[in-house]
Amino acid sequence: MSNHNTTPFNIVAKTQQGLEPILAEELVKLGATNIELHKRAVSFYGDNLVLYKANLHARTALRILVPIKKFSANDEQQLYDEVKKINWDEYMDANDTLSVEASSNSDFFNHTKYIALKTKDAIVDQFREKYGIRPNVDLEQPILKLNLHIFQNECTLSLDSSGESLHRRGYRADANLAPLNEVTAAALIIHSGWNGEGNFVDGMCGSGTILIEAAMFAKNIPSNMARKWFGFMGWKNFDTQLWEKIKQEAENNIRPSKAHFIGNDAVYKVIEIARGNVIKAGLENDIKLSNMRFEEQKAPEGGGIVIMNPPYGERIEMDDVNGFYRMIGDTLKKNFTGYDAWIISSNKEALKHMHLTASKKLVVWNGQLECKFHKYQMYRGTMRIDKHSES
Ligand SMILES: C[S@@+](CC[C@H](N)C(=O)[O-])C[C@H]1O[C@@H](n2cnc3c(N)ncnc32)[C@H](O)[C@@H]1O
Repeated sequence: MSNHNTTPFNIVAKTQQGLEPILAEELVKLGATNIELHKRAVSFYGDNLVLYKANLHARTALRILVPIKKFSANDEQQLYDEVKKINWDEYMDANDTLSVEASSNSDFFNHTKYIALKTKDAIVDQFREKYGIRPNVDLEQPILKLNLHIFQNECTLSLDSSGESLHRRGYRADANLAPLNEVTAAALIIHSGWNGEGNFVDGMCGSGTILIEAAMFAKNIPSNMARKWFGFMGWKNFDTQLWEKIKQEAENNIRPSKAHFIGNDAVYKVIEIARGNVIKAGLENDIKLSNMRFEEQKAPEGGGIVIMNPPYGERIEMDDVNGFYRMIGDTLKKNFTGYDAWIISSNKEALKHMHLTASKKLVVWNGQLECKFHKYQMYRGTMRIDKHSES
């Protein structure tokens, strides 16, 4: 592709619990090798091409880290000393900006803010002692963003190649709607095995996340095509030419949608928010939205797929949550013949009240909530499925 450095190095992509295998599959398609699955992370090998592509394309990655040093430390002083041993000239200049994010699961360290501060101090002190000037902290968009993870006394210091979390695609206005995380929504679509064609319905679309992620998937629009800044752009070895080529190739591969996206929500204000998000994502010609209750919805002819994230009756209380899920089951049976319906919910009891048998099941996490993602096949002429679906 270009004469960039093709020596592979170790990379770690972070994700949500349960999505590791889906992310691993995405990464393999982007050229990653030596894949290993961990809790909420996938490690792999790749060069800058793979690293840049993973940031641009991996729909289920939250951030992508490049470890630069692993060491042991039992207290803050040892941590400081180890960080100071690194030659920071290799990574940044004295007048650049930096930020450090830390996480720990350790009996030795428990104040993540303090360990982040000690790490930053070690870097800043090295520059001050060498040059008499020091880098400043910038929490928004630093030239170098670092990530420190401590497990007991094992410390891993990484460069954060993403910067802002990759779930922030840039299309969603902050709204207090219990929206699904973009990464989770993308994972549901990929896991469903949808081929990107036909009717795609979300009858309780809220802010429109599932529809927007589905349309981006179907049109081959990279998940972070709209992002202007990735962490790797501040690195000394940033290969602008390689990046431009990757972006251009991605642009060329965007295709018209072969699907019809239909979104409804019972609340007018919510549909207006979804409309704003769809416009921001540039998908207003692809996604049709209307303010309608699911029970009144007639599915478009020709079959297709429903992916829906109904209220769980847990975070937001409902009068009769089981009756509500019975309504979803009844509507699917009555109006969605020929469709595959996928429902995500944390309410296992209510799901049984749909009175449909799930043909596939996945456990996913929506924030702190463990959820089921169930597939129901609405065969033509076989609508006598009346068994309770087991949990
Ligand atoms: C959990 S939210 C969906 C969030 C959405 N996936 C997102 O990412 O923003 C559930 C949505 O169902 C809508 N809703 C509740 N009852 C409904 C009904 N009977 N018909 C259609 N929509 C309904 C609510 O207004 C709410 O927006």
